[in-house]
Amino acid sequence: MNLKSLKIKGGIPLKGEICIQGSKNAVLPILAASLLGDGPVVIENCPVIGDVKDTLRIMKKLGCAVWQEGNVVRVDASAADGFMIEKEEAARIRSSVLFLGALLGKIKKAVLPQPGGCAIGARPIDLHLESLRQLGAVIEEEEDGWEEKQNQSQADPQRKAQSGMLTADGTHMHGARIRLRFPSVGATENSILAAVMLPGETIVEHAAQEPEIDQLCEFLNQRGAKIKREKNAIFIRGGAPLGPVRYRMKADRIVTGTYLLAAAASRGTVMIRNFSQELDALLLLLEKMGGSIEEQDGRLTFTMPHRARSSAFVETAPYPGFPTDLQSPLMAVLAGAEGVSMIKETLFENRFRTAGQLVRMGAQIEIRGSCAKITGCETLVGSVVEAPDLRGGAALAVAALQSEGISTITGMEYVERGYEDIARDLRMLGADVWEEEQK
Ligand code: UD1
Repeated sequence: MNLKSLKIKGGIPLKGEICIQGSKNAVLPILAASLLGDGPVVIENCPVIGDVKDTLRIMKKLGCAVWQEGNVVRVDASAADGFMIEKEEAARIRSSVLFLGALLGKIKKAVLPQPGGCAIGARPIDLHLESLRQLGAVIEEEEDGWEEKQNQSQADPQRKAQSGMLTADGTHMHGARIRLRFPSVGATENSILAAVMLPGETIVEHAAQEPEIDQLCEFLNQRGAKIKREKNAIFIRGGAPLGPVRYRMKADRIVTGTYLLAAAASRGTVMIRNFSQELDALLLLLEKMGGSIEEQDGRLTFTMPHRARSSAFVETAPYPGFPTDLQSPLMAVLAGAEGVSMIKETLFENRFRTAGQLVRMGAQIEIRGSCAKITGCETLVGSVVEAPDLRGGAALAVAALQSEGISTITGMEYVERGYEDIARDLRMLGADVWEEEQK
């Protein structure tokens, strides 16, 4: 793989119109759900990103027929009988854990590596396993030796050591009442993926309410499933046959938010055609910071005509709270905003690694535990920085747009996992951006 770095010449206010890619966090569980029932499944507006590529590779190994042309993916899982995911495959993509619920639902057994931590935190899967066990799955967790863990983390620096294998038997699974201790997105999705194929009714209480879960339910319902959500309870009448479908992915909530924050940082104006509707927490904050938002004819126009004001205190939280995935891009804006802001990160302990890179650009950020104090600077300085993770990399691009001179962002392979082409998008909005092969 040729490693690329992103170069951005700062100081140009963004101005332009953009169409947002399909949602990454919705398409990943939807691809796992494409394993279920009878195909074919056609997904339109599927983002062309690293995470989708890695998920499709797993699906092919499980025996699915997969066809992809541009933003259209077709999956036929009728002949898929695989139930084992190899370590190398799972090491590439953490959401491979969603195949646990899907495989238990489809063929009543699954063997897959236990995902370890990743760049943004430890990310345990205890809630996934508890939920599936409440549905009657028998899951054994086997530990690996230290040496093997070392090899794993060296093989893929994006992932920390994996901690063993999961062997699951779903022979005696049935619908049940599940109460999640915390509204985990992944655990909610895994519960749905298994329960939709089981006899009886399942209720997932204290479920995550992220809009991407509604998309998963909509996709399954269009195939014949019987799922409904009432606030934070999801009701699944399992066992209905699932058939073919043509489904169109909605706009990515986090990519929409990233480009709004990029406009705020650059003191520009962006028009977004197919924007995500579920960004109230961010839109309210952007207004507080001095931006103006207008929605007309299905198009969102956002303008920040001057230096943003501080956001006072922001705390990340499950939906409908402020999304942790936008915390780093927000921090990048606040680094150049007027006044002092505080951010509390409540979900992923390593997200503040982005702060270290922002400091290299001249930002004033103090971290104390899960809180960051950001004292806005009049100017940031273009520097060589390294993407610490997917959203952290996008945040550095946001910071570069408001910096003096040229910034070089390395480690862009992280960003490519979730953004189709951030250089293309920012260029479309008038930024001076180009890519360079890393030496
Ligand atoms: C998903 C998103 C990710 C987003 C996150 C929170 C995808 C592919 N990823 O990740 O972009 O940042 O939601 O909105 O959709 N936890 C446990 N035990 C578990 C599961 C989770 O303790 O079994 C903890 C996590 O460590 C974290 C919190 O719960 O602190 C939230 O995690 P979760 O909602 O599960 O996030 P993901 O599904 O991993």
